Amino acid sequence: MVVDLSVSIGSLQLKNPVLTASGTFGYGLEFRRFGNLGALGGVVVKGTTLQPRAGNKPQRIVETAAGMLNSIGLENPGVDFFLTHYLPQLRDLGVTTIVNLAGNTIDEYCQLAERLQQPGIAALELNISCPNVKAGGMAFGTSEEVVYQVVQAVRRHTKLPLIVKLSPNVTDIAAIARAAEAAGADAISLINTLLGMAVDIRTRRPILGNVVGGLSGPAIKPVALRMVWQVAQAVKVPIIGMGGIMTASDAIEFLLCGASAVQIGAANFVEPTTAWRVIDGIAEYLEQQGIASVRELIGSLQI
Ligand SMILES: Cc1cc2nc3c(=O)[nH]c(=O)nc-3n(C[C@H](O)[C@H](O)[C@H](O)COP(=O)(O)O)c2cc1C
Repeated sequence: MVVDLSVSIGSLQLKNPVLTASGTFGYGLEFRRFGNLGALGGVVVKGTTLQPRAGNKPQRIVETAAGMLNSIGLENPGVDFFLTHYLPQLRDLGVTTIVNLAGNTIDEYCQLAERLQQPGIAALELNISCPNVKAGGMAFGTSEEVVYQVVQAVRRHTKLPLIVKLSPNVTDIAAIARAAEAAGADAISLINTLLGMAVDIRTRRPILGNVVGGLSGPAIKPVALRMVWQVAQAVKVPIIGMGGIMTASDAIEFLLCGASAVQIGAANFVEPTTAWRVIDGIAEYLEQQGIASVRELIGSLQI
């Protein structure tokens, strides 16, 4: 039985529902030796800003029980470097490239969106949810009004499919998702990392240089699933789910809860071939279950 893995995220057609999550897969190119990047549903590149950023002071990563904490602070070489050095290679390799962008002001988000209107970029993922930077990121993603303003402004500056990435560090995720949809988001992705911290009892100091950081990995999967499910009830636009996906079975849970696609994040640090394995595992599951298309799984949770 040949199964159909293709899904659509608004006008964006994906050959399968498995993408790699921003900040966990570099620019994709670093993972070339582990598999064919063109066979992935897509690669979401590291959070890109107008100017290069050095990121936060070390230590920036800590392993935790069933996950990891990071406080990278959006280190990246800036949009111009991305466009000149990485995008042409991604284009040549036939990668469905989604650019994750972050700004300090609404105007910066808009400028970035305009700069990124380039052949070879399939969609934009608006990061209004980074917990590791003071001015930008999460400050934009935790108030319905500000979410509306930033999404509406960026919408006017790009024709590319606009995916808005939400922070889980809010009280009412459904309300935030509705604000993003009302402002013109084509899709919602969630979740970014949960705020956390770790302590060294010998030095009595926080382990992360930034004191707090973002928790990701299997520890956050139940929270992410719950939020995807809640958002699926609240909006009509497609959802891309992530948080702790390690296996095809994890990914299928997200699809059942209403995600049209998923992203693989922290798992890439454990097993760099995870995304390809998840694609194969979903295909196997569909074959075993006698289901012709992965689209039949989306939102099919029985309650
Ligand atoms: C080291 C690291 C760097 C990250 N950088 C970004 C980033 O630049 N932009 C962004 O939107 N999310 C970033 N994230 C969040 C992930 O894309 C993802 O939302 C989160 O880790 C949850 O998925 P996971 O549990 O599968 O890792 C980062 C996560 C990690 C672990």
